[in-house]
Amino acid sequence: MAKTLKVGVIGVGGIANTHFPGWQESPHTEIAALSDLAEPALQRAAEKTGAKKLYANPEELIADPDIDIVDICTPNMYHTPLTVGALDAGKHVICEKPLAPTPSDIQQMIAARDRSGKLLMTAQHFRFQGSAKALKAEIDGGTLGPIYHARSWMLRRSGAPLRPGFIMKKHSGGGPCIDIGVHILDLTLWMMGHPQPVTVTGITGDRLSKQKGMFSAWGGTIPPEFDVEEFAAAFVRFETGATLILECSWLLHHDMGGRGEDMQMWLYGEKAGSHWPDNQLVSANLKTQQLIDSKLLKAAGGEPHALECIAFAEAVAKKQSSPVPAEESLKVCQILNGLYESAATGREVVITP
Ligand SMILES: NC(=O)c1ccc[n+]([C@@H]2O[C@H](COP(=O)([O-])OP(=O)(O)OC[C@H]3O[C@@H](n4cnc5c(N)ncnc54)[C@H](O)[C@@H]3O)[C@@H](O)[C@H]2O)c1
Repeated sequence: MAKTLKVGVIGVGGIANTHFPGWQESPHTEIAALSDLAEPALQRAAEKTGAKKLYANPEELIADPDIDIVDICTPNMYHTPLTVGALDAGKHVICEKPLAPTPSDIQQMIAARDRSGKLLMTAQHFRFQGSAKALKAEIDGGTLGPIYHARSWMLRRSGAPLRPGFIMKKHSGGGPCIDIGVHILDLTLWMMGHPQPVTVTGITGDRLSKQKGMFSAWGGTIPPEFDVEEFAAAFVRFETGATLILECSWLLHHDMGGRGEDMQMWLYGEKAGSHWPDNQLVSANLKTQQLIDSKLLKAAGGEPHALECIAFAEAVAKKQSSPVPAEESLKVCQILNGLYESAATGREVVITP
């Protein structure tokens, strides 16, 4: 089959490298162009992908009439202008998480998407992981019944990415809350069927990162320009009456149990509870009054970053809807933004849809 869709990737430093195999594997796409402000990153990615068109200026890639899909993998604070620019130039856009740092940014993106009639997808790759897909199918089949409470966390003991794009608010928009909290929160809301959040109470912390000599096991001492939170927690109410407790951190004196990252989600439904990523199911037989424990079979896997690109290419080629619509990312962003506002004001924040 001829590959009909040409992809241009903007920001080819780190995560873009996990997208390249997806574009290469999809029957619909080829990587035609790359852009990065840093020449070495651009050259490395060109060698890796064989892309012929290299742009130091991302606006030139966006203006290139040959490009059908723009894949945005820059630090967070550049997502909105690049996404809006690409949609207004008539391109389909997949953009890394967090889609944007504030709800009003995402609303601008949605308006641009609707003006253009093109697809916009958030790269939430955990939705494409085998264990997550298996659990989602089970929940959609009704196994848990209505979910009325969730506990979700993504914690690292000493795992702060010390690049400016993550630790300087002017580039990132925030710390672990919008870097990794966004992953587990997106997954949780997806499993819960995206109820509308109505209030959030949150706190953020920077006690460890301010200590002299504090370091990240991923490499290096926490530098003075680190101006984001290192820890965040929240309690969220939804209009369905459901509730959620969320925790995330890059630096926490937490027993990781041998894992590099402790990412877990408990969902409590009227018929059963579930734990991810183990995909354990917990329920009770009321006739025999016995407790029931079972485990779901893991669905077929695959590398989830590649799979999300393949899914987007398929949706564009077949004129389907976005696999991860911006409206869903807006709810995630409303909660995280509310968490920051609540932490700053010391009060519960009401979320207006
Ligand atoms: N889904 C995931 O698992 C995952 C993991 C890591 C990062 N991310 C997300 O991906 C994005 C990038 O993170 P990363 O780890 O690849 O960062 P990175 O710093 O490794 O790479 C970013 C690249 O973007 C380039 N860049 C910066 N501003 C640019 C601009 N305006 N135009 C063109 N190029 C620009 C930089 O030179 C750099 O090469 C962030 O939004 C981050 O949250 C997602």
